[in-house]
Amino acid sequence: MRLDKLLGQAGFGSRGQVKKLIRSRQVLIDGEVAKNDGLNVDPSLQTITISGEQLSYFAEVYYILNKPSGVVSAVSDANHRTVIDLIDQVDRKTDLYPVGRLDRDTEGLVLITNNGPLGFRLLHPRHHVKKTYYVEVNDRLEADALDFFENGIAFLDGTVCKPAKLEIINSSPEISSAYVTISEGKFHQIKKMFLAYGVKVTYLKRISFGPFKLGNLPVGEYRELTEEEKDEMKKYFTKNENF
Ligand code: URA
Repeated sequence: MRLDKLLGQAGFGSRGQVKKLIRSRQVLIDGEVAKNDGLNVDPSLQTITISGEQLSYFAEVYYILNKPSGVVSAVSDANHRTVIDLIDQVDRKTDLYPVGRLDRDTEGLVLITNNGPLGFRLLHPRHHVKKTYYVEVNDRLEADALDFFENGIAFLDGTVCKPAKLEIINSSPEISSAYVTISEGKFHQIKKMFLAYGVKVTYLKRISFGPFKLGNLPVGEYRELTEEEKDEMKKYFTKNENF
């Protein structure tokens, strides 16, 4: 991998910041000053130090999985298949975990990684990471639902949700469908929001999570993030953030 790309992925800042670091002769490869940003390096074979500190780099992996209903968003479970069980053995790196949770009966996008801090950062309220769901309910969704969701729904226990964006696709007495976008992740939030409106969710699928989209990934399958998606994700783990 190119040295500048490696340092960027390891959290040493933007392309410009990394360039500066290399120019300032603070990056050593096997004890030699790195003179070129585009140098091909391999952290598993070479010792890379930045300002005297050794880069501890291990291969981080990022998968998007289309979780089927019936599978739990956990690393292990005594009674049910987990999202990790759906990852092929050859791709099952140690410490893989799902970022956030979907209910067992919810389908859709789950991000799986072995990058420990990433989950905390993506789920941190300060990032307001948006999640969009496709929802089917058992009754009509009238036009007043848009404001109801937009105004911040209050649950009976006093919990108040942040404004959510509802887009009704279809409304009829027995089944209606919609997209709903939220920027937080309370327990059973979508189901409870629709219950507060007076209808029951009969089908729920997450179709996007921050910059990541499910697209037409078949149910039960997974794919690695593209390079562009990984670049998007870097925004959530730059070194200088104060958490
Ligand atoms: N909201 C829910 O109610 N369930 C999920 O699985 C995700 C969001």
